Amino acid sequence: MEELILNNGIKMPNVGLGTFRLEPNDAYNSVFIALKNGYKMLDTANIYGNEKAVGRAIKDSGIKREDLFLSTKIWASEYNNPNAVQNTLDRLGVDYIDLLFVHRPTPKWREVYRLILDAYKKGIVRSIGVSNFEGRYMEALLKEFDILPQVNQVECHPFFPQEKLRETLDAKDIKLMSWAPLCGRGRTLELLNSNQVQTLAKKYNKTPGQIVTKWHTQMGFIVIPGSSSEKHIIENISIFDFTLSKEDMDLMATLNNGKRKDHQTAFSLMLEQRVKPKYEK
Ligand SMILES: NC(=O)c1ccc[n+]([C@@H]2O[C@H](COP(=O)([O-])OP(=O)(O)OC[C@H]3O[C@@H](n4cnc5c(N)ncnc54)[C@H](OP(=O)(O)O)[C@@H]3O)[C@@H](O)[C@H]2O)c1
Repeated sequence: MEELILNNGIKMPNVGLGTFRLEPNDAYNSVFIALKNGYKMLDTANIYGNEKAVGRAIKDSGIKREDLFLSTKIWASEYNNPNAVQNTLDRLGVDYIDLLFVHRPTPKWREVYRLILDAYKKGIVRSIGVSNFEGRYMEALLKEFDILPQVNQVECHPFFPQEKLRETLDAKDIKLMSWAPLCGRGRTLELLNSNQVQTLAKKYNKTPGQIVTKWHTQMGFIVIPGSSSEKHIIENISIFDFTLSKEDMDLMATLNNGKRKDHQTAFSLMLEQRVKPKYEK
């Protein structure tokens, strides 16, 4: 397990488990398996509707809270809710969050960024995240706020390695956390079956998923592959016994074709704020 140091001095594991699209029962199982197999970092969100299940699995795993790095995201429909942070803590069953994100830059993102800042100052939130902040949203954030986030979670994989955004983030020492690191549920095969990944999997005697996960860590990214399979969950954390050579990182770079899945627009963001999370009862 490797850790990165965030721009506020907090340490964060660079590999964790993603829980998007995992129904509560699956999220519980995946988190429980992950924590039993050495994971120290989990990523969830209000909108995934599985925060309670994630919290139950954390408790049942017996892992000490201080040994775990927990990240979650406030969803757009909650941006006006002054209790959004406390409600998130309650669903997770914890009394602090290691990294709390503004999930999407919908029109009211400034309100929730201030709410998270307030929780950060009180120590309820140990680090601040923004997610899907690119282009003008990133510019506005840098211009308008003195306290900057530690992490920006964005779509990032070998097909779309976020070259432009990385320049901005590097200048401010903000870490990039890759979502859809294997290209996303239902879309992984194009990447995992590519010649480049298959060639390196054979060369290093690793699985394609391990090659891509390793690539993220060697790019300096934080990576959270999502999985409901015990085999994959174990595979994705078992990547610390090899290093991709410079020439093999160059080979991976040839996968960059600028193709991304998420084309966020001002209109899609307007619509998203009307979507409400389906919380577990
Ligand atoms: N901030 C945002 O807006 C945002 C958006 C999307 C996602 N996220 C976060 O990012 C995380 C990762 O993204 P994602 O889950 O959408 O996509 P992903 O991690 O790129 O892909 C998940 C898919 O990869 C498969 N997989 C996992 N490990 C594998 C391996 N070793 N070999 C082969 N296949 C493997 C999974 O299948 P199995 O279940 O069979 O393993 C699943 O179908 C999410 O879970 C979530 O926490 C954030």
